[in-house]
Amino acid sequence: MTAVPWTASALNDSMVELRDLTIDYALPRRFFGSRSAPQSVPALAPFTARFERGKISAVIGPSGCGKTSLIHAIAGLLRPSSGGIFIDGRAQKGIRENTGVIFQHFGLLPWKTVEANAELPLKIMKVKKPERRERSGKLLEEFGLEEFRRLYPHKLSGGMKQRLAAARALISGPDLLLMDEPFSSLDALSREEAQDFLLSIKESRSLTVILITHSIEEAVYLSDTVYVITGKNPGALAARVDMPRMERDDSRFPGLSGRLRNLLGA
Ligand SMILES: Nc1ncnc2c1ncn2[C@@H]1O[C@H](COP(=O)(O)OP(=O)(O)O)[C@@H](O)[C@H]1O
Ligand SMILES: [Mg+2]
Repeated sequence: MTAVPWTASALNDSMVELRDLTIDYALPRRFFGSRSAPQSVPALAPFTARFERGKISAVIGPSGCGKTSLIHAIAGLLRPSSGGIFIDGRAQKGIRENTGVIFQHFGLLPWKTVEANAELPLKIMKVKKPERRERSGKLLEEFGLEEFRRLYPHKLSGGMKQRLAAARALISGPDLLLMDEPFSSLDALSREEAQDFLLSIKESRSLTVILITHSIEEAVYLSDTVYVITGKNPGALAARVDMPRMERDDSRFPGLSGRLRNLLGA
């Protein structure tokens, strides 16, 4: 791993801090084969990073490098094998109410209506039905889904499913939003719309965002900082690159994309 050059501002205002985080998956005993066979699969090599408050940090890397494992660990859904996760300076233990998650492939519940999907975090938090309805009504209206609230997810377009997943992640009013390849299933136009929508909700809600993506261009356009992971079993942090805020037609785009492509060895 190359040395990570921390900037002074990153040191001062990091919201999420990872210290030598590692993730291994234990294999079921039937996979051991012999005594010498490995008993676990390493997913992520020691990962140290600071995700700044109010910024979008992207994590980019090839399939299988440990991106989803990383986001699940930050969300408190997966216990790291070693190392620490600190949010707002506190050691992460279990699920944090102020963290919203958009899962890879959205993770919508097909047997629940749009409205019930959006309200799920509030239901888990035991918020009463009238308040749930009021909050989901407002949010679904803002996200252009109000008239579809009684439908089931399979009736929605890709862009609408994406917005529903975002509504569910935001309904409890989080300050930290974790997104696992949220735009990868969208066509090019819906994708650009969804990216700009993310920029607007990030501003209006003062969110700190950690965005997992496959797309070099998406990382360049959306993020303030990009963490590059290379390799697999385990994936390892290869570089941290700061990004300027840019419009889509910025002349620096090809150069910055090329730099990330080189770091990825793509
Ligand atoms: N539940 C699991 N049990 C065993 N290995 C797993 C499990 N989940 C993920 N892995 C392995 O961990 C590695 C990283 O997976 P993942 O975090 O999903 O990567 P990515 O999201 O970057 O594609 C992969 O080699 C994958 O096969
Ligand atoms: Mg993944």
